[in-house]
Amino acid sequence: MSVEKIAGSVAVVSGANRGIGRALVEELLTAGASKVYAGARNPDSLDDLRETWGSRVVALKLDVTEPEDVGRAATSAADATILFNNAGVAGTVGTSITDPDALAHARHEMEVNYFGVLALSSAFAPVLARNGGGAVVNVASVAGLVNFPLFQTYSASKAAVHSVTQALRTGLSSQGTFVAGVYPGPVDTEMARDVPMEKTSARDVARAILRSLEAGEEEIFPDPVSQQMGAMFLEDPKGLEQATAAMAAGEEAA
Ligand SMILES: NC(=O)c1ccc[n+]([C@@H]2O[C@H](COP(=O)([O-])OP(=O)(O)OC[C@H]3O[C@@H](n4cnc5c(N)ncnc54)[C@H](OP(=O)(O)O)[C@@H]3O)[C@@H](O)[C@H]2O)c1
Repeated sequence: MSVEKIAGSVAVVSGANRGIGRALVEELLTAGASKVYAGARNPDSLDDLRETWGSRVVALKLDVTEPEDVGRAATSAADATILFNNAGVAGTVGTSITDPDALAHARHEMEVNYFGVLALSSAFAPVLARNGGGAVVNVASVAGLVNFPLFQTYSASKAAVHSVTQALRTGLSSQGTFVAGVYPGPVDTEMARDVPMEKTSARDVARAILRSLEAGEEEIFPDPVSQQMGAMFLEDPKGLEQATAAMAAGEEAA
């Protein structure tokens, strides 16, 4: 599979109005992407990006759970070469799977984080094929490799993203599409506002994602926490599970 160059690419980013998605849009353009289709549930929230970057940013109304939005995005962004499945949700921090509202959180997280990735990837697969193969980049989480006690149902949805990333890699290899999974640790965005851990900035994470994509890495660990946990996952998955549970138990006791 060929390595994906950012300069000259045409990218689609879901959840582009804030957090990691917004940082990806800005870093893609800084690195020479010719155009970015920025997807947001409310396209007005992209106005300042369009003012700054002019016609290189094209706003798309894109709720990843709405089939009409997804279909329209794939038709509008017919010249796309890289799809970033970034949009995501996490229910209330600290909800355990035994809480009464856990099922509702879990369904919503699966709807956005898993079915959203599946829907956009299916819609864009023929577009990428027509444009020479390109790449799909799925923003999963290190919590998809080991269950985070603070984010139990969210972690399960990100495990599903990890799995569908592997499925897409197999399924799209014959059309020359490179498929990467991104497994960040805590990132300083709205989603991780209540996470009591050291966080990396969204900008640094976006830069690391693009660097790793250009280097042809299929599993991207874009920050120090994820690099440490990723290495432990590869070496000793059971040890990582136990260490993560112990860390959470220590925080509860503190
Ligand atoms: N922050 C972390 O610590 C961390 C760690 C690992 C992985 N991640 C992953 O990184 C990705 C970006 O998260 P973030 O940290 O940047 O969080 P964020 O600041 O909360 O941003 C989430 C983005 O997803 C969008 N979104 C939510 N539901 C959507 C839907 N149904 N359709 C389309 N867009 C939707 C939001 O749009 P609205 O403004 O309309 O709500 C927003 O743009 C997510 O997949 C997240 O799971 C984050």
